[in-house]
Amino acid sequence: MEIRTDYLVIGSGIAGLSFALEAAKAGTVAIITKKQDSESNTNYAQGGIACVLAPDDSFDLHIEDTLRTGRGLCRRDAVEMVVKKGPEMVNRLLEWGVNFTMERMEAGERLALEREGGHSKSRIVHASDLTGAEIERALLDRVKSEKNITIYEDHIAIDLITEHHLRILHPAGNMATSMRSRMNDSTKSSSGQRKITCWGAYVLNTRRGEVDKFLAKVTLLATGGAGKVYLHTTNPEIATGDGIAMAYRAGAEIANLEFMQFHPTSLYHPDGKSFLISEAVRGYGGILRTKDGQAFMQKYHLMGDLAPRDIVARAIDRELKARGDDCVWLDVTHLDPEETRQRFPHIYERCKSVGIDMTLDPVPVVPAAHYMCGGVRTDLWGRTTIVNLYATGEVACTGVHGANRLASNSLLEALVFSRQAYQDSLTVVRDKGFTFPEIPDWNEENTFNAEEWVLLAHDRLEIQQLMWDYVGIVRSDLRLKRAQKRICLIAEEIEEFYKRTKVTPDLIELRNIATVAQLIIHCALARKESRGLHFNTDYPQQNDGKYLRDTVITNEALE
Ligand code: FAD
Ligand code: SIN
Repeated sequence: MEIRTDYLVIGSGIAGLSFALEAAKAGTVAIITKKQDSESNTNYAQGGIACVLAPDDSFDLHIEDTLRTGRGLCRRDAVEMVVKKGPEMVNRLLEWGVNFTMERMEAGERLALEREGGHSKSRIVHASDLTGAEIERALLDRVKSEKNITIYEDHIAIDLITEHHLRILHPAGNMATSMRSRMNDSTKSSSGQRKITCWGAYVLNTRRGEVDKFLAKVTLLATGGAGKVYLHTTNPEIATGDGIAMAYRAGAEIANLEFMQFHPTSLYHPDGKSFLISEAVRGYGGILRTKDGQAFMQKYHLMGDLAPRDIVARAIDRELKARGDDCVWLDVTHLDPEETRQRFPHIYERCKSVGIDMTLDPVPVVPAAHYMCGGVRTDLWGRTTIVNLYATGEVACTGVHGANRLASNSLLEALVFSRQAYQDSLTVVRDKGFTFPEIPDWNEENTFNAEEWVLLAHDRLEIQQLMWDYVGIVRSDLRLKRAQKRICLIAEEIEEFYKRTKVTPDLIELRNIATVAQLIIHCALARKESRGLHFNTDYPQQNDGKYLRDTVITNEALE
């Protein structure tokens, strides 16, 4: 099937949905999403949205907090833009029907503000401890009432359509081979730079088991994060780095993948898989303790339990290794039980469901992969290096987060950049002369239904385990190279399998996980220093002389 639309939006989290709501004013919008429409990292966000609203706060302070946390790698212009547009974005969410938590004042009420790590002021706008679910609900309600928008659930994008698809009619599997060899000279601009255009994506309809062709004047990658590249993560199943892998294969610039953020406090319990204990709990007064009840964060940073995430996660990692413990404990038992229940009802109930009453007992926690600070490189308009391809939200590397993201800056970043991308894309959609080239259908010749599915599950687990053990919070060249060698072998086997097999969601995701894992290691090996989220014991110092720059890769990186 072929679907033609003005805008193709890949992903239905905050980045995709907020873009779609704007884009619907200018043209037709198809949103594809690989599972149910609400399944996204957005849906699980707890803490909230950082925004300067308090009388004792200022844009300058929020900008400074963001730049300090990003350890020299943030783009100041991007940070300033995002911070200054904060109040406008929160207002837009209110207009779209998001119900944020309010607090009573003598004269009426105002938005309640929480505090999180790395922030010098209370500035986190939230909807209880379920901010993301409330945003997702409101945006989906709104999107569903727009006649210009169609949502396609259970549609997983396989690859972006670019020049090389026009030239090479090939079985699906061949797409796995070197992209460099596919690039034709006609894709080079007069300056000799390769110029690639995107016309949409090949998409597997997982209900019908068929590959559709979505053709669009403008394509937005809003596919979210890559936490599932690691064994332990706060991210849901969808976060397999598909957008980064697709953009990489298509030839877009990718940057800073070494900066995977580990959240310090995910619930440590066999039944608590992927469950986050929000940083807002420490903002509220929660204290991290070792098994014997000792508070330890003051040893590591002046801000103690509210130090930036990289520092807290590394401190926990060090305490665990030094003591041989499996977890540390987050303690709010000294705080008012009623207030705890009222401020964190979802976290309270979830802990209760696994037998922990957080008002009486400390909660066992460990760090887990949480947020990808790097991604598909964009400018201030969300433009990637591929013509008519935009990227916003967690999949993008916009320059806002640098080497470490400040808590609760990502929902805001997604909103601001999706709006920027919409504004920039108007000229393309309004171009009366726009035509699509002849684009071939997906070709599955010489591919078969495979029976070795058990191998796929093994490969996935093996990559996740290797990434967790060797490419985690603390790295070394030896560990990185060991992981690289092993994952490279697994990736080659996956490519072989992919070439002769009919695509399935599991196979698509596994291939992407393998690609992103390799790219993370590639970036990590290229940065011979320690900065922000990237800590390498062979180079424990920050080296501004050589590495005060992004790690940028193109599709030759793995060849
Ligand atoms: P997502 O919300 O992840 O959406 C991605 C979408 O793309 C999904 O719909 C997915 O199904 C779809 N998709 C992916 N691949 C494909 C494909 N191949 N084909 C089709 N569809 C695809 N940030 C904050 O600022 N504040 C917080 O309080 C906060 N709390 C968090 C708590 C948790 C537990 C987690 C996991 C993250 C949190 N974050 C928070 C981070 C923030 O939630 C995310 O960075 C943000 O929601 C990302 O939005 P997004 O739209 O870019 O991606
Ligand atoms: C949290 O609530 O701790 C998550 C905030 C974030 O990831 O920005």
